[in-house]
Amino acid sequence: MCGIVGYVGSAVASNRPLDVVLEGLARLEYRGYDSAGVAVAGPDGMKVAKKAGRLDNLRGELAEHPLPAGEAAIGHTRWATHGGPTDANAHPHVSYDGRVAVVHNGIIENFQQLRAELADHGVTPVSQTDTEVAAHQLALEMSHGGTLLEAMCRLASRLEGSFTFVALDRDDPHAIVAARRNSPLVVGLGEGENYLGSDVAAFVGQTRHAMELGQDQIVQVTPDSVRVVDFKGNEQTGRRFEVDWDVNAAVKGGYDTFMDKEIHEAPTAVAETLRGRTTPDGGLQLDEMRISEAVLRSVDKIIVVACGTAAYAGHVAKYAIEHWCRIPVEVELAHEFRYRDPVVNEKTLVVAISQSGETMDTLMAIRHAREQGSKVLAIVNTHGSTIARESDAVLYTHAGPEVAVASTKAFIAQITACYLLGLYLAELRGNKYVDEIATYLDELGKMPDRIEEVLGLESDVRELARSMSDVTSVLFLGRHVGYPVALEGALKLKELAYIHAEGFAAGELKHGPIALIEPGLPVFVIVPTPRRPLLHSKVISNLQEVRARGARTIAIAEEGDSEAASYADTIFWVPRTTPTLMMPLVTVVPLQIFASELARVKGYDVDKPRNLAKSVTVE
Ligand code: M6R
Repeated sequence: MCGIVGYVGSAVASNRPLDVVLEGLARLEYRGYDSAGVAVAGPDGMKVAKKAGRLDNLRGELAEHPLPAGEAAIGHTRWATHGGPTDANAHPHVSYDGRVAVVHNGIIENFQQLRAELADHGVTPVSQTDTEVAAHQLALEMSHGGTLLEAMCRLASRLEGSFTFVALDRDDPHAIVAARRNSPLVVGLGEGENYLGSDVAAFVGQTRHAMELGQDQIVQVTPDSVRVVDFKGNEQTGRRFEVDWDVNAAVKGGYDTFMDKEIHEAPTAVAETLRGRTTPDGGLQLDEMRISEAVLRSVDKIIVVACGTAAYAGHVAKYAIEHWCRIPVEVELAHEFRYRDPVVNEKTLVVAISQSGETMDTLMAIRHAREQGSKVLAIVNTHGSTIARESDAVLYTHAGPEVAVASTKAFIAQITACYLLGLYLAELRGNKYVDEIATYLDELGKMPDRIEEVLGLESDVRELARSMSDVTSVLFLGRHVGYPVALEGALKLKELAYIHAEGFAAGELKHGPIALIEPGLPVFVIVPTPRRPLLHSKVISNLQEVRARGARTIAIAEEGDSEAASYADTIFWVPRTTPTLMMPLVTVVPLQIFASELARVKGYDVDKPRNLAKSVTVE
């Protein structure tokens, strides 16, 4: 939540700082779009422009009132926490003496106390934000002497909560200084210029050389140097890495929306996630496996912690891992985990799933798990992210950057990674023979083509969505691995089309929700393969039950499933012979397309649904 960009270069009085920061903000807007603002410092002092609403509003403001050229700039795109989305609450916030401008991501939990202290100095904030309070406090620290870096060390030590702060000093535009605790910040390394960003998208148009920062660290960036210290000022070393995608990965590439593009990238996301995971002897290898094989063999329980779509990927993982490895798997919403005193110990493997690798709820859950002695394995899409860094092992999904707020290809890549993990554990623990694993891997290798086939349904699914532009409620039913797909279908519709939608385990319907069925209510049913007759027949019964009560039934079923066809008003086929456990990779695709089209028909912003942000870095 909230996107932060910083730039410092050696050219004096240049427009480049502002240009780079605005470009970075455009790429980070998915992190929040309540307001946007920039500050530029140079020979003419420091100037700020900020506007409520989308980045375009800020661009309009800058067109009317241009900022002078400078040497350094910072920028911010906001997801509101303290105070509404107004011009006054937009970042950057400038200190009472005009000396420093600050942008911030996170929540300062002791801001009331810090605000009260300001009164003793005769300083009255003009906004409702916690950030402005910190800007004034930083200026007060500077008034005691020393550099911006030293003042930041003193301030950061006094702050509670989560924060990435980036500060610009009017009197020294050759450096920007940033502090981080629990919120993301990466450094981009250029030649004669350097960058800061909430994630690499902020500067990937400029450089692919980057540095990640650790917890409770402060960085001072000048055109030619990057200095990292802890909150006490002790020198630290940041870890360098190369960004493995280029700027073209984060453009729409001819599609109307990022979401549409990302739906179409699912086959590649699966292929990339599988690539390089097999060893010459037919075994499996994960990326950063810092958990010994002995520990993995001793695991007696797995708990998946994740939020939203990632948690639904975890539900799919439960079916696959329990079936292949015979280890009990629990799936827990990360924000519930640490508050319920979970039973975890050194024999528990906690699997954290997160596209961004920055979701605060998930981060807090893994910290809790590690404190209890559990090992944590992260399935993450974003290199250099906090969850990846703080986990004992990492299995990266190589889905590429996901820009649309609604997760699509990342979900599919997460499920793929979960299969890999399940097969890895099955091999390691001797639950499956190597040739059995090879058969599953072979099937996984066919999934990109199967997804491509389902993408061929696109125009039919969009037509269906257009015919439903006035629906007010939609239900989704599934059983076994179809159940998390139903949950995901409902989530997509809620977040994109703002329609009441619910996903149910199909068998649960008769225990209450069937009362919701009324003539014409659209009900999507995820039908399992007829090759699993017991499972299939139960879902067919559920399909009949809702149809008998007048529901408009839409089935996602295996090609040639005549029973499903006879009870469905509309049917979308997925390829025959897809293994049962791998069905979610194909059945979810029509639901993603459906939600995207319904949002478009209703005139909503498909990539940036209201009230949401891509990366949820507050609890
Ligand atoms: O970055 P993460 O995967 O940790 O994000 C988790 C959820 O916030 C995310 O999946 C969210 O539910 C999406 N907006 C769903 O489309």
